[in-house]
Amino acid sequence: MKIVIVGAGYVGLVSGICFSDFGHNVVCVEKDERKLAMLAKGEIPIYEPGLDALLAKNITAGRIKFTNDLATSMEGADAVFIAVGTPTRRGDGHADLTYVFQTAKEIADTMHSGIVVVTKSTVPVGTNREIARIISKQRPGVEFHTASNPEFLREGSAIEDFMRPDRVVIGVESAHGEEVLRRIYRPLNLRETPILATDLETAEIIKYAANAFLATKITFINEIADLCEKVGGDVQQVAKGMGMDKRIGGRFLHAGPGYGGSCFPKDTLALARTGQEVDAVQSIVETVIRANNERKLAMAGKVIAACGGSVKGKRIAILGVTFKPDTDDMRDAPSLVIIPQLRKAGAEMVLCDPQGHMESATMFPDETWADNAYDAAKNADAVVVITEWNAFRGLDLARLKAGMSEAIFVDLRNIYTYREMDAADFQYFPIGKRQRKST
Ligand code: UGA
Repeated sequence: MKIVIVGAGYVGLVSGICFSDFGHNVVCVEKDERKLAMLAKGEIPIYEPGLDALLAKNITAGRIKFTNDLATSMEGADAVFIAVGTPTRRGDGHADLTYVFQTAKEIADTMHSGIVVVTKSTVPVGTNREIARIISKQRPGVEFHTASNPEFLREGSAIEDFMRPDRVVIGVESAHGEEVLRRIYRPLNLRETPILATDLETAEIIKYAANAFLATKITFINEIADLCEKVGGDVQQVAKGMGMDKRIGGRFLHAGPGYGGSCFPKDTLALARTGQEVDAVQSIVETVIRANNERKLAMAGKVIAACGGSVKGKRIAILGVTFKPDTDDMRDAPSLVIIPQLRKAGAEMVLCDPQGHMESATMFPDETWADNAYDAAKNADAVVVITEWNAFRGLDLARLKAGMSEAIFVDLRNIYTYREMDAADFQYFPIGKRQRKST
């Protein structure tokens, strides 16, 4: 099949490359010349493990191309996917649909009869109908099929998520639209992946409801972590015990410094906004948003408390600044709140991150960077893990401590245990466990 993807951002690129690996002919249309130049050389403008190798394989096989020419790309295409950004609109929390509607107009100008226009960008309920209206107004009488196909990719494991999804959701309005999408995803039949066909609105809501639910799950366990810190109990064991109940499930129950990234913060805001607009207030989601914002601030307080109530003049090694491991994405990362708060409180910080340096150098203008955890911790009073990169999971604690002025270890991701930290003679401050004096 021939597939056109408009937008070679995160979602467009992963989808395009994976579709080409399914054996389809894919053309990715991108306006950004810098990105295009990189992609033409087989380079990936984002950090996603395995994507470069998969791209190289499919370029060699002649199944994927990159261009800025939508009109030519559309010739003979079975489906065109809209995969442009939907950032949070400044001021009101709503998803900004400027690029989506602009793309719909450009598709209308260049499309042929029978094409399926699929939205992969995360868009609020009602958007696909608006896209259909824009296209029919511009090209009255030309037959096309609207479809919604939300993505459920996690950064850092996007290829696996695309190739082995729990489900594929397709919102369709016509038998032809459904048939084309089912053919596109046919390679997943081998894995017996369920394909859920719904109407447009349902598919749009599934995406937001899924992300908001996961954000709620995380926020819930984060509050239980606070409770454990006050009354005793170990949040990891609590999560495990809860998760053994199949109705709950153990995933997305890791307590931490609050969720970040390009999706949960943006999508929860947009869902809350839609609810307010149509008088179906999403009070749980609104509370989750507030609790998560407050949590990021509270994490700076936790570090300050661990340092004896003040970080003035203290040197702190920060391990991990990206919103999660295996990505260079800094969007809404907890570090963007925690680091400035600590700086405000008078701390001096040395940052270390396997990927975040390039992206965030300008975001933390006052801090210095180290190449590894040991260099970051040299002469430091405390080490704080904000992001659980593998590089920080197996540290030689004796070596780390040897270079430090004071042995305080704040573990906002619970990657170590009291036992290990006691053995290394660190004062250890994990998440969701009653503070006890390390020996
Ligand atoms: C999320 C969803 O997981 C994907 O299914 C969805 O497709 C994607 O958003 C999207 O809408 O595009 P992503 O933002 O890449 O994916 O990352 P997650 O792995 O979901 O993590 C989000 C945040 O939650 C991170 O800050 C992470 O550290 C935090 N988190 C996650 C926790 O604090 N605890 C957990 O148990 C899980």
